[in-house]
Amino acid sequence: MYRVTLIPGDGIGPSITEAAVRVIEATGVAISWDEQQAGLAGIERHKDPLPEQTIASIAQNKVALKGPLTTQLGKGFRSVNVALRKEFDLYINLRPAKSFEGVPSRYNNVDIVMFRENIEEFYSGIEHYIDAQKSAAETIGIITRYGSERIVRAAFDYARANGRKMVTIVHKANIMKFTGGLFLEVGRKVAEEFPDIRCNDVIIDNMAMQLVLNPNQFDVIVTTNLFGDILSDLCSGLVGGLGVAPGANIGKEAAIFEAVHGSAPDIAGKDIANPSALILASAMMLNHLGEQRAAEKIYAAIRETLRNPHEVTRDLNPDSAVGTKQFAEYIVQHIKTN
Ligand code: NAI
Ligand code: MG
Repeated sequence: MYRVTLIPGDGIGPSITEAAVRVIEATGVAISWDEQQAGLAGIERHKDPLPEQTIASIAQNKVALKGPLTTQLGKGFRSVNVALRKEFDLYINLRPAKSFEGVPSRYNNVDIVMFRENIEEFYSGIEHYIDAQKSAAETIGIITRYGSERIVRAAFDYARANGRKMVTIVHKANIMKFTGGLFLEVGRKVAEEFPDIRCNDVIIDNMAMQLVLNPNQFDVIVTTNLFGDILSDLCSGLVGGLGVAPGANIGKEAAIFEAVHGSAPDIAGKDIANPSALILASAMMLNHLGEQRAAEKIYAAIRETLRNPHEVTRDLNPDSAVGTKQFAEYIVQHIKTN
């Protein structure tokens, strides 16, 4: 029996986590869910966006499944997602973007794995207005040799372990000669230890264009925090959108599995959100727990569901009336009949 922290989250979070839990339970893997609050729900329940007991629960269980958390724009409490990543030193943000048969998108056979540095640079929250008039503002982005080395190494280790052929280092070392330069230099050095994996490097702006033009030329991508955040949404757009893009935040001591997307307040509470991203993240979680067969069951069932336009939510087929719950039910049925 595994014990896993479950954070339902805000907006569409509770409905997609409920769907993910249903699907995980259908695989037969026994999990005891330790439900905890964070984000707006944390404030409501405990007057704290990141309550002590939530942190304690993750520290003890080492694995969490998390719905999206709302963060206000330009004000309010600091991002709880960022705080959690820092708290548990989850330096790897692993975000696969894979095409699914039947999901409308511009390309077929996209299979990209993004490694985004998850702690440093512009997300470290070192920022301030320079005066009371807010006449200027400064955000400090620090990139360390240590942080760069471990994320690039994680990308190459993954490539080697998973039969991947190429790692692309994405940077802006032409303009940010120090921070970008350091990341690129360290990246190239780590690459020398992996002569069996091809390595190239591409400047971020060109990378955005190349990904849109021909995503199939890429395999594993490794990049800094902000570029990785932007490029992972871009990559999800290449395979059908945020509805099908899972992610994992991984450190040495703990791992938190979530969707790439946010709390989608525009569609919250309507039973129309696509739970696929969090369900795919659940499969990543099962792999992490060593439950490969259960993970494969979920992948197979999701592939089967996504192939049928009458079984998907309306983000994937505007004519469909299938809701979040019903969608999860189709996946559960496929798991049970396979
Ligand atoms: P968002 O990812 O929530 O939504 C962007 C667009 O995609 C919206 O039109 C939304 O309806 C759609 N969408 C997202 N997930 C979907 C799903 N599962 N099914 C169907 N459509 C879906 O991004 P947005 O609106 O920029 O941010 C909303 C809030 O989420 C913000 O407070 C932001 O800080 C937070 N956020 C949290 C994240 C996390 O918890 N890891 C990640 C990204 C944003
Ligand atoms: Mg993002």
